[in-house]
Amino acid sequence: MSPKRGDKLPTVWERPAHTKAKHDILVAYLQAWFAIMGHSNWDKKVAVFDWFAGPGVYANNEPGSPLLVLEALIDHGHFDRWSDTEFIFLFNEQDPARYHSLQEVVDSLPNRWSPWPANVTVGAENRTFSELAEELLANIKNGLIPTFAFIDPFGYKDAPIDLIKRLLQYDKAELFIYFDFNSVNRFAGKGAGVDHLFEALFGTDAFVHAPSSGRERGEFLHNLYEDQLRKVCSMAYVRSFGMVNSTGHIGNYLFFCTRNLQAFDRMKQAMWKLAPAGDYRFEDRLAGQPVLFGSADLDTGPLQAALASHFAGRTVLIDEVVNYVIADTPYHSGQVKVKTLKPMQAKGRISSPNQRKTGQFPAGTLVTFPQTTTD
Ligand SMILES: C[S@@+](CC[C@H](N)C(=O)[O-])C[C@H]1O[C@@H](n2cnc3c(N)ncnc32)[C@H](O)[C@@H]1O
Repeated sequence: MSPKRGDKLPTVWERPAHTKAKHDILVAYLQAWFAIMGHSNWDKKVAVFDWFAGPGVYANNEPGSPLLVLEALIDHGHFDRWSDTEFIFLFNEQDPARYHSLQEVVDSLPNRWSPWPANVTVGAENRTFSELAEELLANIKNGLIPTFAFIDPFGYKDAPIDLIKRLLQYDKAELFIYFDFNSVNRFAGKGAGVDHLFEALFGTDAFVHAPSSGRERGEFLHNLYEDQLRKVCSMAYVRSFGMVNSTGHIGNYLFFCTRNLQAFDRMKQAMWKLAPAGDYRFEDRLAGQPVLFGSADLDTGPLQAALASHFAGRTVLIDEVVNYVIADTPYHSGQVKVKTLKPMQAKGRISSPNQRKTGQFPAGTLVTFPQTTTD
């Protein structure tokens, strides 16, 4: 075992339940992202960086993130159609023993996919995230290509927001960060020994103003990080999803960032398609209410409340409503018309001055939200 290892886990560890849920969402989203990139007429080279890749395998032989992101591409039903696009994968792992295990997984790839696809390149590195990312940035000559960055550290060390910002300068960059938020909550602002790490993580020292305990503390730190991702990294769309365990406790957050509204919509579609995974599932909040992904019955109550409040007293085009739903709520575009506006109209919570058929909202339909609504 490496003497430098900060966590207490062995080289290869048992896969916890929440990791399976994390992987499911990673794969579901990447399948959609590869399809957007593969069909693009402009982007002929794209990259996936798994900066904290781990050993590539779990104790009972379950695949780690490197294998899963490759499967999301190469086993995709449309992969054959994307032969003009070059896909570059880079897996990085700092711990030498875990890197060794990762390297074995990478070496075995040509057995898993034979013949190996000519348009897919895989590299593995044994560096710290900061060292490797700085080196990559220093060597970029012709600008960055569209990138999906997966940042999956243990805890809060070595994930400086300034570095993330520089890696994501290119317009078509996406970021998926999975955080053990419990440890941020426990240690942020708790002493000179660690506070420089939090300053690098948040890109500000404002975390010292977090309430000292309770739910407010977690909310403060979570909201600060989300705001910083938006501001520091100039990400137009940032959403976080809490990983809820069977006791209703959130220990981890997944933050997703993009500048592309369509990609943002796809991310949420992927979230909603998730089957509830064992003891864990993802949650978001809207209009003061929890929104649970993957539950059998779609509850658009929180979305109805948010729309009624956001558009109160206005008549707007249906496109404006759909874009608001994508940009500012946990819901996606496919849940707006039939599942949300139709029942709102049936209850008299909206009307339309130009609708041809009640309950239908084709392009050009105007939607009127009254000044005040009753539930
Ligand atoms: C949560 S695990 C990664 C799990 C993996 N992404 C997966 O889903 O299968 C975090 C990994 O980051 C590695 N690590 C810790 N600090 C690092 C650093 N500064 N740079 C790169 N890797 C680091 C750890 O050794 C560990 O294997």
